[in-house]
Amino acid sequence: MLMLLGCCTTIPFIEGPSENLKIIPGGIGDVRPYFGDLRLVTSDDSEAVFLLASCGCGDWRVLIQPHDGSPQEQFAIHFYNESGDYADPGDVLAYGKDETLPAEFSAILQQDPGLLDGRVINGDTKFLVSAVRGDAHATVTACGMCHLGDNPIHPLPAEHPTKYLTDPTVCLECHTAG
Ligand code: HEC
Ligand code: HEC
Repeated sequence: MLMLLGCCTTIPFIEGPSENLKIIPGGIGDVRPYFGDLRLVTSDDSEAVFLLASCGCGDWRVLIQPHDGSPQEQFAIHFYNESGDYADPGDVLAYGKDETLPAEFSAILQQDPGLLDGRVINGDTKFLVSAVRGDAHATVTACGMCHLGDNPIHPLPAEHPTKYLTDPTVCLECHTAG
């Protein structure tokens, strides 16, 4: 009987926020971005670039750029901890999903060392994700990964101030990160 009990418990691939967790309004206090990779459960090879970053629109967003040339994807996520306080320094859950892609992301983010480990389901495919926090300069790198380049997720409008054309690191002169 005991063995039977063991066999039939299903462990979900993705963990969403449990009932004891509260959303952290506005996200965590340290707005430096996290850079990493998606890997298949069965392989150590990197399948996609992963970015978790705050956006000047007030959200924290995930960006997934597959190495095989499939379209890049992004969606907004939220952070959760027991207090709901952004100043609490402990581990937080980062979780979000987009019904239309569809995609779902769940990870434990250790704020102290700046490490993220979790899972992504993108379409039908399950991935492991790990990422590390970049330094303060990396914040504008993250802005550019979604807003600049040949095929950005959200291009700047034609009437946007052009100062970034000569220096792509000027975003935070006029915008805030998060
Ligand atoms: C993961 C991708 C991503 C990253 C990183 C990102 N953004 Fe965004 N940003 C978006 C998307 C997508 C939108 C459009 C949001 C919408 O319309 O809901 C947006 C919107 C904005 C807007 C318009 C806000 C508004 O209310 O109209 C500003 C300003 C902005 N971003 C600035 C930045 C800056 C500055 C950074 C770097 C600190 C940054 N973003 C990083 C994806 C990103
Ligand atoms: C010289 C000031 C200045 C700099 C530098 C600047 N922006 Fe802007 N940005 C603006 C202004 C002004 C607007 C239009 C008003 C608004 O939406 O706040 C704007 C609007 C935006 C929007 C909203 C576009 C939309 O869909 O409406 C995004 C996204 C954005 N900026 C991203 C960036 C990024 C990324 C950088 C750095 C590469 C950057 N900006 C650098 C001033 C600046």
